[in-house]
Amino acid sequence: MNFNLTSEQKLIKQTAADFSRDELKEGAVNRDKNKIWPKEQVAKMANLGFMGMMVDESWGGSGLDTISYCIAMEEVSKVDASAGVIMSVNNSLVCYLLNKYGSEHIKTKYLISLAKGDKLGSFSLSEPQSGSDASNMKTYATLDGDNYILSGTKNWVTNGISCDYAIVFALTEKGVGHKGISCFLVEKSFDGFSTGKPEEKLGIRSSDTCELYFDGVKVPKENLIGSEGDGFKIALSTLDGGRIGIASQALGIAQAALEASIDYSKEREQFGKPISSNQGIQFKLADMAMEIEASRLLIYKAALAKDEGRDYGHIASMAKVYASEVAMRASTQCVQIHGGYGYVNETGVERLMRDAKITQIYEGTSEIQRVVIARELLK
Ligand code: CAA
Repeated sequence: MNFNLTSEQKLIKQTAADFSRDELKEGAVNRDKNKIWPKEQVAKMANLGFMGMMVDESWGGSGLDTISYCIAMEEVSKVDASAGVIMSVNNSLVCYLLNKYGSEHIKTKYLISLAKGDKLGSFSLSEPQSGSDASNMKTYATLDGDNYILSGTKNWVTNGISCDYAIVFALTEKGVGHKGISCFLVEKSFDGFSTGKPEEKLGIRSSDTCELYFDGVKVPKENLIGSEGDGFKIALSTLDGGRIGIASQALGIAQAALEASIDYSKEREQFGKPISSNQGIQFKLADMAMEIEASRLLIYKAALAKDEGRDYGHIASMAKVYASEVAMRASTQCVQIHGGYGYVNETGVERLMRDAKITQIYEGTSEIQRVVIARELLK
């Protein structure tokens, strides 16, 4: 067992930290406040190879391991968790899925540009009536000659507005439960595909989230990913990896909360001394640091298991549920340490608390992660 990062992983960490400090930091509070999508910054992330990190180089990606991806996700999310989720969806939910399950045709036509970051992807599984119960969907697709005709509504789609391509799950056979679900790649430009208004969100406000509408969209049958009926397993196995990405996003938020808390508590004086000299503050910092370190180890453990081809879904769930709860606790304590200054948006620390909350909800709620973990224990 070796807890040291490789020289390549150290380089990724440094590159991501430099990029986040130099390119993401300055406008992050303003982008969040005014819901400005970070177009220039995402283009720069693409130039660094951050949009398709785990995709083979032959398909336009960076050919890196999952730990490198987690490291970059942490550094980006530490400064701007909205940029983190944009990156995470493209990497873990779109590129990973196409790299693993896409045909040569799909990879050539779509994966290369997505992995390079020339195009952006979204992943749409949830519907208004089916969130945790993901297989209970209504969106359907029927084969008509060389095309599927796709109709329905998806919601909570990160990158829904800004994406070029959407991964869409739909029923191709009704009445057989999850075995009737298939997976498609749908181009935004296809007739009948439209998007709803951007959701007004508590956090990650400079990433976009919306509904997607499909009204008799003609999808070429070559855009079916895998075979008919494979869709639900493709979705769940892809989400296993996605959850490692979101855990890393949560880790970045928690780390930011710790660093801001250390800096502020050393600088802020009350009763004639820095508040960091009080054990009441020191214990908060110690708890944050301890829980953050434990989150990081769980995340790397899940990432390593994934790269080594071992079962990792339940470890990914542990990493996500733990890191997201740590992010929530750390960011709440960070606001507490900052007092009134933490509650206004000038210091930017209230953003951490707002951003942390979604990591307990998307890509499977904390309750669903516990279901996955318990099923593994009891099988
Ligand atoms: N990988 C591959 N296959 C899997 C799997 C996995 N991780 N987990 C289960 N399966 C298989 C099962 O073996 C089963 O196959 P068989 O019938 O052949 O045996 C099949 O899938 C169905 O499994 P279950 O009966 O366990 O399915 P379920 O309906 O009980 O659901 C669940 C299980 C864990 C609750 C699942 O529905 C789930 O994870 N729900 C949460 C969905 C979610 O995370 N949504 C987030 C959407 S993405 C998002 O957030 C938007 C964004 O833009 C960021």
